[in-house]
This record gives sequence, C-alpha cells and structure tokens, in this order.
Amino acid sequence: MKSPHRILLAMFWLAAFAIIHLVEAQNQEGFISLDCGLPLNESPYVEPETEIQFSSDENFIQSGKMGKIPANLKSENLKPYSTLRYFPDGIRNCYDIRVEVGRNYLIRAMFFYGNFDGLNVSPEFDMYIGPNKWTTIDLQKEPSGSGATTPMISTLELRPLASDSYLAMSGSLKLNFRMYLSNSTALLRCDRYPKDVYDRTWCDNWTQISTTSNVSNTNHYDPPQAVLRVAAIPKNVDGPLTITWSLENPDDQIYLYRHFAEIQDLEANDTREFDCLLNGETLNINALNPKYLEIETMLTTIPKECNRGICRMQLIKTQSSTLPPLLNGFEVYSVLQLPQLQTSETEGNKSEPWIKTRRRRFTYSEVLEMTNNLQQPLGEGGFGIVYHGNLNGSEQVAVKLLSQTSAQGYKEFKAEVELLLRVHHINLVSLVGYCDEKDHFALIYEYMSNGDLHQHLSGKHVGSVLDWGTRLQIAIEAALGLEYLHIGCKPAMVHRDVKSTNILLDEEFKAKIADFGLSRSFQVGGDQSRVSTVVAGTLGYLDPEYYLTSELSLKSDIYSFGILLLEIITNQRVIDQTRKKPNIAEWVTYVIKKGDISQIVDPKLQGNYEPRSVWRALEVAMSCANPSSAKRPNMSQVIIKLKVK
Ligand SMILES: *[C@@H]1O[C@H](CO)[C@@H](O)[C@H](O)[C@H]1NC(C)=O
Ligand SMILES: *[C@@H]1O[C@H](CO)[C@@H](O)[C@H](O)[C@H]1NC(C)=O
Ligand SMILES: *[C@@H]1O[C@H](CO)[C@@H](O)[C@H](O)[C@H]1NC(C)=O
Ligand SMILES: *[C@@H]1O[C@H](CO)[C@@H](O)[C@H](O)[C@H]1NC(C)=O
Ligand SMILES: *[C@@H]1O[C@H](CO)[C@@H](O)[C@H](O)[C@H]1NC(C)=O
Ligand SMILES: *[C@@H]1O[C@H](CO)[C@@H](O)[C@H](O)[C@H]1NC(C)=O
Ligand SMILES: *[C@@H]1O[C@H](CO)[C@@H](O)[C@H](O)[C@H]1NC(C)=O
Repeated sequence: MKSPHRILLAMFWLAAFAIIHLVEAQNQEGFISLDCGLPLNESPYVEPETEIQFSSDENFIQSGKMGKIPANLKSENLKPYSTLRYFPDGIRNCYDIRVEVGRNYLIRAMFFYGNFDGLNVSPEFDMYIGPNKWTTIDLQKEPSGSGATTPMISTLELRPLASDSYLAMSGSLKLNFRMYLSNSTALLRCDRYPKDVYDRTWCDNWTQISTTSNVSNTNHYDPPQAVLRVAAIPKNVDGPLTITWSLENPDDQIYLYRHFAEIQDLEANDTREFDCLLNGETLNINALNPKYLEIETMLTTIPKECNRGICRMQLIKTQSSTLPPLLNGFEVYSVLQLPQLQTSETEGNKSEPWIKTRRRRFTYSEVLEMTNNLQQPLGEGGFGIVYHGNLNGSEQVAVKLLSQTSAQGYKEFKAEVELLLRVHHINLVSLVGYCDEKDHFALIYEYMSNGDLHQHLSGKHVGSVLDWGTRLQIAIEAALGLEYLHIGCKPAMVHRDVKSTNILLDEEFKAKIADFGLSRSFQVGGDQSRVSTVVAGTLGYLDPEYYLTSELSLKSDIYSFGILLLEIITNQRVIDQTRKKPNIAEWVTYVIKKGDISQIVDPKLQGNYEPRSVWRALEVAMSCANPSSAKRPNMSQVIIKLKVK
C-alpha cells in the first residue's frame, strides 16, 4: 500500500557530522537505494559487494548538480560513493521519497567528499527529515571558520523494518552504535568505531567463543549468521562482561537491543545463566538463559537514561551458573525527537508526518480544552478517570487522565501507550493521541458511544436488552481482538484483564477491547508460552492456574474470555456469594448437572434465541474456563466455533 506520504530531506548551509546506519541486506523488497549523482543512463546497477541494486536519484530531486570524485579515489571506494550530488544553490534542497504509510524505516545517508570540486573545502550542513532536523553533517577535520560550504550527498538508502522490530514510544530512533562481537573484518567491532562518529566505546576484557553451526533466526531482527556464531564472554570467567560507552548528548534516552544465543554445546552439569544490568538497574525479570543455537533478542521497551551520559551495561552470572555470561550482538539507539504535525519557521510547504505513529501529542491545556475542564466523567479505567471530550467540536473522544500520584498508574500508562502504539485492529480501541507534559499524563481514545458491555447486560442502559445475535457478534469481535493480540503481534501479548467492563461498544454495537494497562508482551523468540509475573487482573475472571503459579500465558486470557462468554450467555454476576455456587463457571456446571439447561440462559432474552447457537457458545465458554490451561482451546479455535452458523 503505497501512498503519497513523503520524506523530505533538506540540506542547510550550516555546521557539524555523519551518522551512518549500517544495514545488512538480505531480501531487498522495499529497499530504496539511491546513488546520488548517478547519470540515468547508468542506472540501475547491482553493487557487487553488497548485491544491493542502486538507482540514480534523478527522479527524486529537482535541484543540485552531479559530481564525480577523482579516479584515484574511485578505485578505493565502493561504486556508490564515486558520484555525488551537490547543492551550490538554494537554502534548502529536498528529496521527495514515497514511503509506505505506517511502516518504520532505517535511513542511511552517506557523504564522501573526496575533493570532487578541487576546492578542498569539506562541507558542513544540516540534514532534515520533513520539517525536523535530523543531524548536522560535518566532514571537516578542522573547524573551517570560513562560513558557507556546499552541501553534498553520496548515497541515500531507506530500509523498511519488520513491523514488530525497533519500536519507539514516540519519535524516531537514531543509531548510536551497533556492535557485533565478532572477529570478522567485514563486521565492526566496538573498539574499531571511530570516536568522532559514535563517541567513545569500551569493551573491556572480553574474549570470543564461536561455533560453525548455523544459529536459527527466530525473530525479525535478523542479525547475520557471522554475528550469531560468535559471542563475547568475559576474560575473567567469574567476572561480569562490562560494556561502557558515552552518549553524544548526556540527556539522550536510549533503547537497547541485545542478541543472545548459546553457541556452545553444554555438558549436562553446566548452566549458563546471567542477569543484564544497565547502570546497576536489572533489565530482565528472570535470569537470562540463552537457548542452544537459537537467537533471542531482548529489548528495553521503555527508554533508559544514563548517568550524565555514561552508560554501563553489565552481564553478571548468577550464583547457580557454572559458565560466564555471553553476548552475541548489541545495538544502542537513542530517541530522536521529531515532533510531529509541526512545521518549522523556514518550512514553506507542510510535510506529512511519516514516522512510527500518526497519533497526536497534546498539551495539557489542550486536554483541558477538549474535555471542557474535565467536566463529564465517563467512568473509571485501570489507572484513572475517563472523561468525555471533543476535538475542536468535531470528533468525540474519551480522555483517560492518569491520577497524578500513582506510580503503579504511571507504569500502566506506559504499558498502555506502548501497546497501543504497536497494535492496530478494528476490535481494539484505538488511540487518537496522548499527553505527557510534566506530571500530566493522558490517553485520548476514539469515543465509544454505547459504553461498555457490562452496562448493557446489567441494565444500566435503560430500555436496551442486547439480543442473542448481537451478543454473539460482540463475543466474536472481542475474540478477534484477542486473537490479534495473541498471534497477530510479535511479541505476543496477553491482555490480562479481559472482562465485560473492558469490552466497549460503538454506535453500531461493534465491540472493541479497551484498557491495556495490565497487558504484557512476551520476549521475542524462543519459548513464548510463559512468563512469571505479579498476579494481576480482576477477581472472577482470573485464571486459577495463573493465580496459583504466577505463570502468565496466553491461556490466562482464554480463561477470562470463557468467563466473559458465560456472562454474555447467562447475565449472571461472575462472582455472586448469594448463589449456591458463587463462581459463575461452577454455577453453570452445577446447573447443567441438575439437567436444568434453560435455567442458564439470561431470562431477559425471553427465550428469543436459537438454542443450538447458545449451547455451542456455552460449550466454547466452558472449554475456555477449564481450570486446566492445557485443556483450553486457543483463540483461533474459539472463533471458528463461535462463527459456526
Ligand atoms: C574468527 O575466529 C574463528 C574462531 O575463533 C576463526 O576460526 C576465524 O578464522 C576467525 N576469523 C577471522 C577473520 O579472524
Ligand atoms: C581486565 O581484567 C583484569 C583482571 O580481571 C584487570 O586487572 C584489568 O584492569 C582489566 N582491564 C581493563 C581494561 O578493565
Ligand atoms: C547453514 O545454512 C546454510 C544456508 O541455509 C547452509 O547452506 C549450510 O549448509 C548450513 N550450515 C550448517 C553447518 O548447517
Ligand atoms: C562437569 O562434568 C565434567 C565431566 O563430565 C567435569 O569435567 C566438570 O568439571 C564438571 N563441571 C562442573 C561444574 O561440575
Ligand atoms: C513548496 O512547493 C512548491 C511546489 O511544490 C515549490 O515551488 C516551492 O519552492 C516550495 N517551497 C519551499 C519553501 O520549499
Ligand atoms: C483546535 O484547532 C486549533 C486550530 O486549528 C489548534 O490550534 C488546536 O490545537 C486544536 N485543538 C485541539 C484540542 O485539537
Ligand atoms: C490453535 O490450536 C489448533 C489445534 O490445536 C492448532 O492447529 C493451531 O495451530 C493453534 N493456533 C495457534 C495460533 O496456536
């Protein structure tokens, strides 16, 4: 789906240095690889070393002139760097490149001056993405002091990323460095990075281990085999593996991606288990225990800060581990704030926002304005009160405001924003925008005019009794939303709080799941089935197995969905101490055993339903609410059964 969203790269006459993204190419689908200044009649060609097909940039820019670097330098460099485009005229020169909407891209621009103009004045200039400054390019070794230089560019490359890799809360990610702990000269080692590009990096006291076996890529980060087959371990096998680096801007927030695979065939009595710490803070819930020849990628989902810009990551073996920690690959990104829907002073033409998310960021005063000073509460969500709002009188919204005191609430807020920025599905309530101004946090959602399912079942919506067909449709839609969380997202996600108050209905009674504050995602790759967590959820809907073991799995949502379905069928409270059996599932079992099936169905339906359809739903509900998680179906099976006519 291509659409005319544009990336504008504007080059200014200003000052400073190069950011280089290195991408390992495999499948070139969606790659945009421009050899700037390449004459059209030589385009395209395949660069032999990388096998990347480069094209001329002619059709992407209206201005600039073609330049060639001298023949003696040409032979030493890859072909794409032998031509360039330079911009002697105009304040701003723009590339106009179509990208896929909603897709994340890695962008790499390369600049090789090579004294192409014989003036021996290396350029300094700024580079913009849309209206926002990306970075300053400075190819000068010495400060020139002289003022204007001519901007130029050698290559411009865009790489679409797997939709589930490299996610940032907001803004864009700027590569700080990518480190493969390999001895191969084709790949970069941390100690080889030029200081001026990536700032100082130390990898102290590590040594290598390697394997000749293939390591399987089980996620979408796809580091190359050469990287996966080699890992670093500390020289002192009892000590930590420590990596220290400093940030270009001390205030930068960073995301870490760590790639691990066991590459030694361990003896039965050996274990390799370790914790990963950043600046003393543990990044993982459970100790890490890499799988044999299978890559796992651990990421930080919340950006981290480093102490005055000095970051220190340590892998420390646990007490029970007999082997030192290991690390196969490591990437550090900082968050590049590219404010959206904003244009700079110099920007004459509005460009559309293109990065990551088209959700709006609102100021707190806008939040107050849209809710008319928090006038109309709609209800209470996981971590705050939800208010009715209006976006400039046109679009109705629901605004969830985080109560200012709650630390737990803030965690849930973050979890919800992160989830909602990652997912998009017609049966999940969607995010219109958010506010995170100082102490004020708010989430702005699409407005669901028919409130929640619980209100309708309990009769709070006067005069409306949902008929069986509508109820079944709501159940199917909620199931589709959950199925998407479970299998449509990587890493998979557990909602953890499926219940009738979290099923919202729009004006046509289409159901959408809300309230993702407790949701959790599983780490990428490997065994995705279980993680240990602090038990959370709502009484009555809570999976008894999860409650006993603290082991969360997708099957916990299935249990809650079963309870929800029972509620839809019976309109009984999920826990009711006045009932012979307080727990709804036990009550249904008890009534069925007595053979009195018609007693189960909501009397408000007054018998207006197709019995076979209701019994089928009941069967599905009971299998979902099976106390043993192993006996529960998965969401796809549930949907198939519910959809049978
Ligand atoms: C890298 O290390 C492996 C094993 O230690 C060795 O077999 C290989 O030759 C090395 N490669 C290079 C390029 O040094
Ligand atoms: C490497 O480790 C040794 C002992 O384990 C220590 O004495 C030395 O200072 C370390 N070197 C660096 C660069 O950290
Ligand atoms: C590794 O994978 C490549 C490509 O799939 C295959 O050609 C090669 O034989 C494999 N090597 C080993 C040691 O399994
Ligand atoms: C594990 O067993 C091997 C022999 O099979 C022995 O050499 C080694 O020391 C043992 N390691 C530990 C940590 O006990
Ligand atoms: C805006 O776009 C028009 C037409 O595309 C172009 O002529 C004009 O120079 C642009 N203005 C700026 C400031 O880039
Ligand atoms: C309403 O529209 C004005 C002007 O278009 C804009 O400045 C303001 O931010 C909008 N307010 C909200 C709450 O969207
Ligand atoms: C759901 O369960 C069925 C039957 O066990 C299985 O074939 C299917 O692959 C499962 N789907 C998922 C997404 O796990």
